Amino acid sequence: MNAKILFVSLSLSTILLSCTNDNPDTLMDDTTIIGLATYNQNVKSIIDNNCIVCHATVPKNGAPMSLVTYDQVKQAVLNRGLLTRISLENGNSSLMPNGGPRLPQTTIDIILKWNQDGLLEK
Ligand code: HEC
Repeated sequence: MNAKILFVSLSLSTILLSCTNDNPDTLMDDTTIIGLATYNQNVKSIIDNNCIVCHATVPKNGAPMSLVTYDQVKQAVLNRGLLTRISLENGNSSLMPNGGPRLPQTTIDIILKWNQDGLLEK
């Protein structure tokens, strides 16, 4: 009988212990960058997925410039307030992507880190 209880409690603690591995603080996901952020490795895919539908090579839907190349995105950070535009709150008419929703904070943080790391290409 005691052995049975011991077995059950051991199994329970194994289950509980394996659950603690899901702690979000220790979870590494694809938004974790080791080292410096670069345009090619970290930023281009975000812009491609969220911005170039309007900021295409030939800009569409009223967008004033394209965000297709490294230089264009870098210039938009330096001269067109890109970091501010993506950091605005939902509902702000100047938020990018235009019409929202705001990008997830982890995605915004990657672009902010790219800026802090010096806007490297690769
Ligand atoms: C649905 C179309 C659309 C999408 C998607 C979109 N934009 Fe825009 N963007 C616009 C339009 C239209 C303007 C001009 C109106 C304005 O300034 O708010 C603009 C303006 C901007 C400006 C200001 C340019 C200037 O010279 O003042 C920046 C920076 C910008 N967008 C960045 C982005 C980024 C970064 C993304 C992706 C995260 C994005 N946009 C997604 C349509 C879009």
